[in-house]
Amino acid sequence: MKILVTGGAGYIGSHTCVELLEAGHDLVVVDNLCNSKAAAIDRVLEIADGSLRLIELDIRDTAALTEVFQSERVDAVIHFAGLKAVGESTDLPVEYYDNNVGGTISLLQAMDAGDVRTIVFSSSATVYGDPHQVPITEDFPLTATNPYGWSKLMVEQVLKDLQASDERWSITLLRYFNPVGAHPSGLIGEDPNGIPNNLMPYISQVAIGKLDRLRVFGDDYPTRDGTGVRDYIHVVDLAQGHLAALDTHATTPGAHIYNLGTGSGVSVLEMRAAFEEACEQAIPYEIVDRRPGDIAECWADPSRARVALNWQATKSLMDMTRDGWRWQSRNPDGYQE
Ligand code: NAD
Ligand code: UFG
Repeated sequence: MKILVTGGAGYIGSHTCVELLEAGHDLVVVDNLCNSKAAAIDRVLEIADGSLRLIELDIRDTAALTEVFQSERVDAVIHFAGLKAVGESTDLPVEYYDNNVGGTISLLQAMDAGDVRTIVFSSSATVYGDPHQVPITEDFPLTATNPYGWSKLMVEQVLKDLQASDERWSITLLRYFNPVGAHPSGLIGEDPNGIPNNLMPYISQVAIGKLDRLRVFGDDYPTRDGTGVRDYIHVVDLAQGHLAALDTHATTPGAHIYNLGTGSGVSVLEMRAAFEEACEQAIPYEIVDRRPGDIAECWADPSRARVALNWQATKSLMDMTRDGWRWQSRNPDGYQE
């Protein structure tokens, strides 16, 4: 198949491009590089052979995007492009709605004009808000607590409404839990701008000496060691979930929704300990106040994806920390030379 990947130069997109190329697909990547570098695509092509064309374009430019669909015979779209920083979304709500919701609407218009009606969308476990229990199944109530989360929920609704109005569409909503780690080659990985917000890149930068210590946001949650518990999933497992979704649904119209997680939770202190083992050095830390908006625990029931997509995460916590550390230690400044 020829697949158009929006946001394919980003963290999850680049890992998915590798898996798609290795499976023999041809790729067109559309990315405005607002949170990524073209070097990521060069690295993708060092890992995997195949056909990949990078087009530097903002998906809100509907006219230019429509031309891409006219000139390339695309079979399906995987849609990663968007802004993802929860805290920033509270300060810049209009930018978030414009990029994430407006960008998706522009994409859907260009797809429709190009007669392409299969889309796999990057949603998030954030659409479950503070879940009433764990593990979380796909039919749990949906809500949001910040503009980023609302933008994901709004896009989910747009896609469901579109499919309900025109049964030719195949839409798949993949709700990711916490993607971490990097490709085992050490060539591609997460390259955050500035001080990382997320746990694993933060720990990595403590290990490499860029940050002095981990700040653990609260040790008084009702969890086994008092720190927050999340369902961390290796980014390569996550990438393979996209292939499974395409294999299963590229030619199956309908609205398909899946959790992509491992099904088990890891605490902040457990993640720190696993990272210490991977990098063979101590990660200093201190306990500080809870981060506003954080929840105690969140992990997936991934059984729907296991049954319907024949997919499940196979990589361990040690794979996540070892691969994350390999990427960080070999590329201390990310894609910057
Ligand atoms: P990322 O920032 O690394 O990748 C997003 C890519 O989209 C970047 O390359 C960026 O340049 C591009 N982009 C942004 N706006 C664009 C636009 N208007 N036009 C063209 N390109 C644009 O983020 P990621 O971690 O790879 O996340 C990918 C998707 O998965 C996002 O939609 C994100 O919300 C979602 N998601 C991420 C996580 C996570 O923890 N990383 C969790 C759940 C969901
Ligand atoms: N944490 C720390 N110190 C840090 C960073 C994080 O203690 O410096 C803790 C948090 O309090 C939380 C856990 O580590 O308990 C994980 O935090 P992350 O920021 O890595 O991840 P979140 O679960 O808060 O959020 C992530 C994405 C969101 C997405 C959500 C659900 O950042 O975009 O998962 O998928 F919505």
